[in-house]
Amino acid sequence: MRTIVTGASGLLGRHVAEALLAAGHDVLGIDTVAPVGGRWRHATADLTDLGSTLQLVRDRDAVVHVAAIPRPTGRAGGEVFRTNVATAYNVVEAAAMAGIGRFVYASSFSVFGYPFFEKTVIPPYLPVDMNHPVGAQDPYGLSKWLGEEIVDAAVRRGAFSAVSIRMPWIQTPQSFFAGVGPRRATAESARDLWAYLDARDAGQGFLRALEWQGQSHLRVLLGAADTFMEEETEALVRRVYPGVALSRPIAGFGSVLDTAHARETIGFAPEHSWRSYPKPETNG
Ligand SMILES: NC(=O)c1ccc[n+]([C@@H]2O[C@H](COP(=O)([O-])OP(=O)(O)OC[C@H]3O[C@@H](n4cnc5c(N)ncnc54)[C@H](O)[C@@H]3O)[C@@H](O)[C@H]2O)c1
Repeated sequence: MRTIVTGASGLLGRHVAEALLAAGHDVLGIDTVAPVGGRWRHATADLTDLGSTLQLVRDRDAVVHVAAIPRPTGRAGGEVFRTNVATAYNVVEAAAMAGIGRFVYASSFSVFGYPFFEKTVIPPYLPVDMNHPVGAQDPYGLSKWLGEEIVDAAVRRGAFSAVSIRMPWIQTPQSFFAGVGPRRATAESARDLWAYLDARDAGQGFLRALEWQGQSHLRVLLGAADTFMEEETEALVRRVYPGVALSRPIAGFGSVLDTAHARETIGFAPEHSWRSYPKPETNG
């Protein structure tokens, strides 16, 4: 399959591009910056520019739209919102005009409101599944939700079939201990619902989504099988969310994100846990 991956020079995009290459896809990456060491063809473009997007997103079988600013922090909210919504609109529109039949969109579990809420979001129940209400408060989560809705509008008018993939914090063995490690000791970790996703598992999830045979817009939730915490999950939930009901038992360190729907629809099965990541060397 000839597949475009936008944002292929970034953290998630390069794992998606690698997974697709390994499965035999002919990958064209489009990004504002060139990849470091990528084995796929690359085109440099700012996808907020509709003309550039229309010229590059064509003559392909599938588009995977990953490019975005991946958080609302460190930049003006307006820039995050404008970039993410404009790129989603332009890439969807270009794919539709070019008659590209398959579309996969990198969404986020931030559409539920976590982890960037200003007014605390209490889960209505745990584990979180696709029946959890949408409720972004911040410009990033809102942009990811509107991205799904832009995809939905194109599917509604028959442009293509699509899968939108909601994901928690993406991690690698290189990022985990520095990125997540210190946060585990703070109350802030509850904002993430202690959830993460190994970038290699994310890559496999995107590959599976491209193979999905449905003819509509499927929205799925991915995540690792476990939390990033060292306290067992049911005890953690009782301590942090004493009023929140568990809709089913959660064994051991099991995740509070329910990915059964992703397993049933696209065959997603996470293989990697931070518990097997090599521990960083410490001095002394
Ligand atoms: N990192 C996470 O924890 C996480 C979690 C859930 C969802 N996501 C989503 O996954 C996607 C990728 O996130 P990431 O962590 O890999 O981010 P990243 O910043 O590492 O990669 C994003 C890539 O998009 C490119 N990009 C940004 N604006 C662009 C534009 N206007 N035109 C062309 N390219 C542009 C960047 O240059 C970058 O290479 C995003 O859509 C993000 O919302 C990320």
